[in-house]
Amino acid sequence: MKYIFGNWKMNGLGKEAFLLAQGVAMSPVPENAKAAIFPPFTSLHIAREQLKGSKIHLGAQDCSAEKSGAYTGDISAAMLKDTGCEYVLVGHSERRTLHGEKDDMIRRKALAAIAAGLKPVICVGENLAERESGNYLQIITNQAKNSLPSLTHSHDFLIAYEPVWAIGSGKTPTIAEISEVHKTIASLLYHDTSVSGHSVQTAVLYGGSVKAANAGEIMETQGVDGVLVGGASLNADEFGKIIAEMGNLCTQY
Ligand code: PGA
Repeated sequence: MKYIFGNWKMNGLGKEAFLLAQGVAMSPVPENAKAAIFPPFTSLHIAREQLKGSKIHLGAQDCSAEKSGAYTGDISAAMLKDTGCEYVLVGHSERRTLHGEKDDMIRRKALAAIAAGLKPVICVGENLAERESGNYLQIITNQAKNSLPSLTHSHDFLIAYEPVWAIGSGKTPTIAEISEVHKTIASLLYHDTSVSGHSVQTAVLYGGSVKAANAGEIMETQGVDGVLVGGASLNADEFGKIIAEMGNLCTQY
């Protein structure tokens, strides 16, 4: 299974969301691929209506770690499930940086999502200074170790590796660089699994300046189970082309 997820970030007023979701809903989705869009909270209902009868799934960009109660401005995982979401991003680097979210909070959000019947997509990735320090593999390993729920849940969540320096910058890592990190994450999952005795079923996506022109090559990288697309998911044609790229690959698997 290959995943093509589109993170709209803080974009999409009613009319735009309507048109974008309507456009994406028309994209054919190959058998072995799963495509989803992640609109802002206020557009989830609009998107849900447009996606009805299509093969595109719905996700949200964040959720509270709490179940319900006095948390003004927050949205619970159960609310997202109730709105028709199947997925939720947690720990996106923009949440980590702009809202000071730490690994422990992200782990609690992931657990809250799982408890509500959603699949969290847990994001990890190093910033430029961390990459340049040479210590990035250790940093990513620590982030993953501390923000992932126990691996007994390994089939209940996905991971997205998103180098912060590649997000929205047009700079993508080389295939060797992507592969190195994905191997590290896989070895972490498999290592812990050998201890816990559970089989790993965690999909690991890559995100950061993915577009139709590079999606195919990235998807072919060993250990990459899909892509998390930001800017390019705001254009239905471009996002549709990325889904189609996956179709070309899926026929080879
Ligand atoms: P980008 O964003 O594709 O615009 O680089 C990716 C993301 O932040 O998920």
